[in-house]
Parts: sequence; C-alpha cells; structure tokens
Amino acid sequence: MAGEYQRAYDESINNPEKFWGEAAHQVAWYKKYGKVFDDSEKPFYRWFTGGELNTCYNAVDYHVKNGRGNQVAYIYDSPVTDTVRKITYAQLLDLVSRFAGVLKANGVNKGDRVIIYMPMVPEAAVAMLACARIGAIHSVVFGGFAPHELAIRIDDAAPKVILSASCGIETKRVIEYKPLLDRAIDEAKHKPEKCIILQRPQANANLIPGRDFDWAELMKAAKPADCEVMKATDPLYILYTSGTTGIPKGVVRDNGGHAVALKWTMKNIYGVAPGDVFWAASDVGWVVGHSYIIYAPLFYGCTSIIYEGKPVGTPDPGAFWRVISQHKVRCFFTAPTAFRAIKKEDPEGAYLKKYDISSLKYLFLAGERLDTDTYYWASNMLKIPVVDHWWQTETGWPIAANCMGLEALPIKPGSPTKPAPGYNVQIVDADGTQAPPDTDGLVLIKMPLPPGNLPTLWQNDDRYVSSYLDPYPGFYFTGDVGKIDHDGYLFVMGRADDVIKVAGHRLSTGSMEEAIAKHPDVAECAVVGMADSFKGQLPLGFVVLKAGVKRENEVIIKELAQLVRDNIGAVASFKQAIIVKRLPKTRSGKILRSTIRKITDNQPYTVPSTIDDPAILDEIKDSLKVVKRGE
Ligand code: COA
Ligand code: AMP
Repeated sequence: MAGEYQRAYDESINNPEKFWGEAAHQVAWYKKYGKVFDDSEKPFYRWFTGGELNTCYNAVDYHVKNGRGNQVAYIYDSPVTDTVRKITYAQLLDLVSRFAGVLKANGVNKGDRVIIYMPMVPEAAVAMLACARIGAIHSVVFGGFAPHELAIRIDDAAPKVILSASCGIETKRVIEYKPLLDRAIDEAKHKPEKCIILQRPQANANLIPGRDFDWAELMKAAKPADCEVMKATDPLYILYTSGTTGIPKGVVRDNGGHAVALKWTMKNIYGVAPGDVFWAASDVGWVVGHSYIIYAPLFYGCTSIIYEGKPVGTPDPGAFWRVISQHKVRCFFTAPTAFRAIKKEDPEGAYLKKYDISSLKYLFLAGERLDTDTYYWASNMLKIPVVDHWWQTETGWPIAANCMGLEALPIKPGSPTKPAPGYNVQIVDADGTQAPPDTDGLVLIKMPLPPGNLPTLWQNDDRYVSSYLDPYPGFYFTGDVGKIDHDGYLFVMGRADDVIKVAGHRLSTGSMEEAIAKHPDVAECAVVGMADSFKGQLPLGFVVLKAGVKRENEVIIKELAQLVRDNIGAVASFKQAIIVKRLPKTRSGKILRSTIRKITDNQPYTVPSTIDDPAILDEIKDSLKVVKRGE
C-alpha cells in the first residue's frame, strides 16, 4: 500500500488541479479563481487565473481577524545590537498598514517597483508586507552586494522608491549602507524619485534634501492604507538571482500560487502547526528569507524569527542553540555551511550542552549540497531528523525534500530524499535521453512547474524561455547535475553551469570575470568554483596578463580581489587567482570553462574534440599546485 507521501505525490502529478485546488482552500480569496491551472498561453503557465486576493491580508490581517492578534508574529533577535523585540500580529498589522500609507503618500501605487536594500531588521519585513499590501512589487537586494550589483538591479527594476537603512552590522563591524546606496544611484541610469532611510543608532546617514526621507519621521505622520485587491497572477515580487552572465535574472513570483504553495509546505514539508515557532536563519535578500522568514510562517499563523547575527562570533558557536532554547523553536532551517562554521569552532558540541533545545523537532538544511560529514555531525549532535532539501530561487520552495508532515521516509545521507509533490523530476544525458537509475545526468523538471514557481523573468520572457525551457523542450532546466537511485531518491551533486554557491550565497562567476576584466593589466580570464571544505565552494581565477606587464603577480592578484569585492561585494570571497600564460579554448575561441572546472576539482574529464591546443590543459593542471585548498 502506498504511503502518505506516495499518495500525495501521485495525485499532484496525475491530478494537479485537484491537488492544488484543495490546497487553495486554505487561502483567503476575495474572488475565487476560474481555473486552478491555466495553459492557455503556453509555455507561460499560470495558476489560479481569475482569482483575487492580497498576500499581506493572508499573512497578517487574516490572523488578527481570526484570533491571533496577540500572538507573536516576528521575533527580532539581534545579538549584534543586543536586542530581542517581539511583534504581535496586531502590532504588525498596525506597522504594516501605516508603512503602506507612507508608501502611498510618497507616490507608490499598485504595480510600481520598490527596491529594498536593508539588513536583517524588522522594518525590512514591514517594508515587504507593506508593498504586498498596496500591490507594489518589491525587489529586495541582499545587503552584502556592492553598489555595482545594486545599480544593475535598479536599472532593471526601475523602482519608484528605494528603502534602505543607515547601516548593517557584520558581527562587530558597522557597514554604512547609505554611501553604497548613493554610489549605486549615481551609477544607475534609472533614478528613483525618493529614498526612505531607516536611521539606526550605530550610524547616521546623510540625507539628500528632496530625495531622501527619514523612515521614523514619515511613520509619525502616516495614515494606514488598506489592502489592494490583487489578481492571483499579478507579480508580488522580483528577486534577482545570479545566472551564468553578469546580468542577474529577475525571478518573478505571483501572488496566488505563492500563497497556496507556501502555506501547503508549512504543514506538509516542515511538519509545523499554527502557533509554532519557525526559524530560518538566512537573510531577507535570499529566497529562503523571502519564503521562510517573511511569508510562509505568517501565512500559516506561526511565529517567525528575524535573526541579525551569525552562527559563530555573535558571540560564540552557541548562538544558534541560544536562540532555539530562548524562543522554543520547533523547526530550524539553515545552510550546511553554517553548521560547518559551528563544527569548526565547537567540534565536541560543548556549547550545545549549555542549552535546553528540546523544543526542536527538525533541522532542515538547503542552499548547497549537504556533505555527509556535516550530516552525520549535525545528526549526532542534535539527535533529531536532519532533513536535506533541494531548491532554487526560481522555485521558491523545495523541489525535493523528506516531507516531515506527510510521512517521514528513511533518510539516505547525501540525498534530499524524493521529489516534493508537484515536481516531476527526471534525469537526462546531454542529448536529453532519460538516464537509467543510478546514472549521473542533468536534472530536469517536467513542465508545468507547480504553483509558487517563477512564471517568467521580469520583463524578459525571452530569457525565461531560452534559459529554462529551450534547452530540453517540455522540461524546466534546473542547471543542476545529479541522479535518481533505484529507490527513487534524488542526489544533487552541483551545477552544470557557471553559477557557484559560496557559503550558501549564489554567485555568478561571469560577473566576477567582468569585474576582473576591468583591470588594466588583464588580457582575459576565467573564474571557476573550486570545492572548499568550509564554504562549499570558493571562486578561483585563471588570469592571462597583457603582453609586456612586468608588475608582480601577487600585487596584481590583490588588486583583482579588491576589484571583485568593490564590484560584487565581500560575499564573493574572491581571494585566489593564478596567472597563466594562456587559457584552453576551442578552435573558435571559446574558453573551455567546464574543462577548467573539472581539472580544478580533480574530476575526470575528456579532452574536448574542439580544443585548439590540448597541451594547455596540462599547463592548467600544473598551475594548480600553488592553490591553497580548504581551511
Ligand atoms: N552585508 C555586508 N557584508 C556581508 C554580508 C552582508 N549582509 N554578509 C556577508 N558579508 C561579508 C562578510 O562580513 C565577509 O566579509 P570579510 O571578507 O570582510 O570578512 C564576507 O562578506 C564573506 O562572508 P561569508 O561568506 O558569509 O563568510 P563569513 O566568514 O563572514 O561567514 C558563515 C561564514 C558560514 C558563518 C556565513 O556565510 C553563514 O552564516 N552562511 C549561511 C548563509 C545562508 O544562510 N545562506 C542562505 C541560504 S539558506
Ligand atoms: P539558490 O537559488 O540560491 O537557492 O541556489 C540554488 C542552487 O543551490 C541549486 O541550483 C543547487 O545547485 C544548490 N542547492 C540548493 N539546495 C541544495 C541541496 N539541498 N543540495 C544540493 N544543492 C543544493
């Protein structure tokens, strides 16, 4: 007899309209949708067309109306400012509706874009929900990105208003955001009409009269704004994510499918109940922050934690255990790299012993491959299910997971278990032929994707089609490589393209190459990811200098590292490069990046038949002797 997981999975694939139609009953609609699934504009599939709702209403107002007003919605826990602040659903409703009023009074209307460049403070959540309330489309940019990356996003999203703060705090370092914002606006061609700046006590931002406004001042005079009626298919947000080129992809999320799918995951994947405390230790700038800090826990009536701190150093490797014990967290979600950081400083778990974390039932990990060492360490320490689950910014929620609320399947270390309901995952070889079980290949998802997944890229249908749908018609191309074993368990091994994950942060090697190419001594370069035992991957540059450059290599490499830091941000962690005489290329002049990548990671590779000069591959292998690996 099929178990609960298999039953749900089969129904989601064989009868998606019934499956998601039932899930949609949990959402509050102003007007019921005409169709659960709409394929009238293939390949642009839509969910819940004709339906009307408001995302903020579902996250906040609904709970106040249904008796959760006094329950805590967000706990802001900030060891870097020594603050714990609890905001109930009723208080959140007041803050969000007043900030929505501020936005309206400053000219923001339905469909306008608002960029949010903020640290992990509750005002970031208020800003996102306020946008959702009035139908403005938010685009949160991770605070660790440098002005150039912010400028690219400003030009693409063309925001009417930008919301930011005077500073963020990295462990003990105060990072002033306002000068970064000013530089980004200077660089961007599009200029926002206004900026609203949250002044934090750690730094005072200089406001430009007429353009910049003080958040707190505007809030004092604010009149609350009500929820706009939104179509299910209207965009809720744009989240830019790294692709293979220097231009990020603007992943669009709709209102209806997003609310239905995310609410469904809370019970069925994460195994929590309304009223439980759910904690995703990520950042609002990443998809995990959008889905599982801001939106899903609130859709489901949980309490969510906004944590402004790190796994270590704020103040010690017991930081996570302190938060879990203090706030009685039931379900915790973070990236494997965070656990490697704790393991490095506290391998025996001495700090863990100081706290009662008996409230914790599940640990979910995602963002990069969960290596078996980290899995066993976390499992042995916590003695609860450690659930690897695989997803992408594009999907907004897990593609594969051990669905704790449906049926806990046996865990296979190294595998995110089986495809979640809604995702028909298949493995193919490069020609698109289905691979037999236990055989590595490209990971594809048969179209249509379930609700909550990206319907397209912001104002770029063509790129959506060419990046995701054209490579293997009828399928969504995930960009990942992996296999499905004889028991139907999925294993995701890494990316097939030039996207890398550094400490859980998704970055494009293409954008690093663009930054390096700005250096006057550089003729050409290739950046690839190399395996790293702490951050998962680190970028490594192979650089060819212009003829006649006589300066010391070490000096040039330091300048390149600084260039990447200035252009992309410190999160790129670009520190190492090798100066080589030439790069391996095809006869038509294309750099053989995937071959360089394999050589760098000591993986087997075949010498491409199109290669111009195979001897260069030996030079690359040789050059790697100087590289420092691991910590
Ligand atoms: N604003 C400004 N700078 C930032 C930043 C932010 N929001 N986030 C990171 N940085 C900086 C760091 O301070 C560091 O600067 P440095 O080079 O001057 O030291 C640099 O970017 C690299 O940061 P990171 O790669 O995060 O390394 P780290 O050593 O500071 O921390 C971890 C390592 C593992 C503790 C941390 O990366 C972590 O907690 N990762 C989990 C990531 C995550 O949750 N991802 C979301 C997917 S679930
Ligand atoms: P992001 O868009 O930042 O969520 O990054 C998505 C990419 O991270 C995926 O395409 C994978 O390469 C990687 N990833 C995320 N979760 C996992 C996981 N559990 N196992 C392996 N890789 C993962």
